[in-house]
Amino acid sequence: MSDSPQANIGVVGMAVMGSNLARNLASREGNTVAIFNRSYEKTQTVLDEHPEAGFVPASTYEEFAASLQKPRAAIIMVQAGRGTDAVIDELVKVFEPGDIIVDGGNALFTDTIRREKAVRETGINFVGAGISGGEEGALNGPSIMPGGSDESWVTLGPILKSIAAVAEGEPCVTHVGHDGAGHFVKMIHNGIEYVDMQLIGEAYDLIRRGTGKSPAEIADIFAEWNTGELESYLIEITAEVLRQNDAETGTPLVDVILDAAGAKGTGAWTVQTALDLGIPVSGIAEAVFARSLSSKPAQRAGASSLPGPSTTVSVDDEAAFIEDVRRALYASKIIAYSQGFDAIVAGAEQYGWDIKKGDIAKIWRAGCIIRAQFLNRISDAYEEDSSLVALVLAPYFRDAVEGAQEAWRRVVVHAVQAGIPTPAFSSSLAYYDGIRADRLPAALIQGQRDFFGAHTYKRIDKDGTFHTLWSGDRSEISAVDAH
Ligand SMILES: NC(=O)c1ccc[n+]([C@@H]2O[C@H](COP(=O)([O-])OP(=O)(O)OC[C@H]3O[C@@H](n4cnc5c(N)ncnc54)[C@H](OP(=O)(O)O)[C@@H]3O)[C@@H](O)[C@H]2O)c1
Repeated sequence: MSDSPQANIGVVGMAVMGSNLARNLASREGNTVAIFNRSYEKTQTVLDEHPEAGFVPASTYEEFAASLQKPRAAIIMVQAGRGTDAVIDELVKVFEPGDIIVDGGNALFTDTIRREKAVRETGINFVGAGISGGEEGALNGPSIMPGGSDESWVTLGPILKSIAAVAEGEPCVTHVGHDGAGHFVKMIHNGIEYVDMQLIGEAYDLIRRGTGKSPAEIADIFAEWNTGELESYLIEITAEVLRQNDAETGTPLVDVILDAAGAKGTGAWTVQTALDLGIPVSGIAEAVFARSLSSKPAQRAGASSLPGPSTTVSVDDEAAFIEDVRRALYASKIIAYSQGFDAIVAGAEQYGWDIKKGDIAKIWRAGCIIRAQFLNRISDAYEEDSSLVALVLAPYFRDAVEGAQEAWRRVVVHAVQAGIPTPAFSSSLAYYDGIRADRLPAALIQGQRDFFGAHTYKRIDKDGTFHTLWSGDRSEISAVDAH
């Protein structure tokens, strides 16, 4: 152990993510990495297993601070929530004004806003950085979404660029915006991940039940799709999972895995936040709820006797049906991303962040779970027109949806008639039909609201706010008179 400042970056937390991130940092030219873990055993294990990294270990927070060059910069990778708060409290005691504390865990962005405000009062910079890509990403190059001050970006930027994933020569990191902006964008990333996975699951289910093809045959279909506009990490791994046979039973692994999907909560955060912002992220919400539905075994067992369609719905032309499903998947995916970016725009407005939407699409092209070819199209769309009111209106996506919409409708009709649950496909189509509608039944809802609660309404033909005297002579009065 050393008490001279040798390291230019430190990592606190030597569990899976922290140790891999520390190894990634140490492998880059010019970095010397200080490491610390609450219990020293983990630090010792990492030291023993990775002598090549040249880590500078510390057994106390004081030693850790002393081993870092000024301005000190340390990345916290510990259990989100109380663990993060505990580490921040300790680092604040041993760091000095101008130093930088980075929280690389999966924090709720409002916690990051709170922490940034509190830490800023000490003169220390606090940066909430979303880090995506799991263990593999942490080691080989994650997509990184840092928030925090401009001052901290000056020191951190080059370090984070050196460890981030690279897409078409560009590092997958950008200074997203101030305080909680990075964790906000990471949360939306995870929400999009939920809906992307749900849509793929629905596509698989439709093909399996519609055509009777085996998981291995469907793996071939996904592998083929991965050569076209759907090319993405999630489509690629779907083929891998579907091709896998269970060693014990010899049957497809997907048939022996319990069909109850887990969740760590970032999808629910996205939906809760979008509800507060008033942004319909219906695809993400359906994906979160589909996992909840799958994880209620007693209810599902009880409901399994409920009747389905009385007639069997068959697929006449398998190849045409599979192509329809592919198109429906692409169209639904466009809606999912369009909704996710709407939530980013609304969050940026609400919290005063200057988020460059095209840059976000770019940093998701590699190192994260939703990495996909498609993200180039999104960054192009925002570069061409940064004021797009909805991603789906960009010429490329508009054409793609136009080309897919008949197939999309056929697939949803098939699902409904065959009794196959497709909440994400169906809700995406309903959203599409909703935003493009000339008139919505919201007019009737306004009438109902005015009837039972005198909530008033606006008219299409003149300015002002109005109320109908429903329990009187039903004449209309100006809302000014109604109150
Ligand atoms: N795992 C993933 O794929 C993944 C992906 C993206 C983001 N993340 C995020 O990255 C962070 C780290 O994840 P992880 O899976 O590597 O670790 P983890 O299991 O979430 O947390 C374990 C680490 O937290 C430390 N810790 C817990 N409470 C502490 C406290 N009060 N004071 C100091 N240290 C404390 C533990 O120290 P001890 O050893 O002393 O107990 C240990 O180093 C989390 O925020 C997680 O959400 C994880």
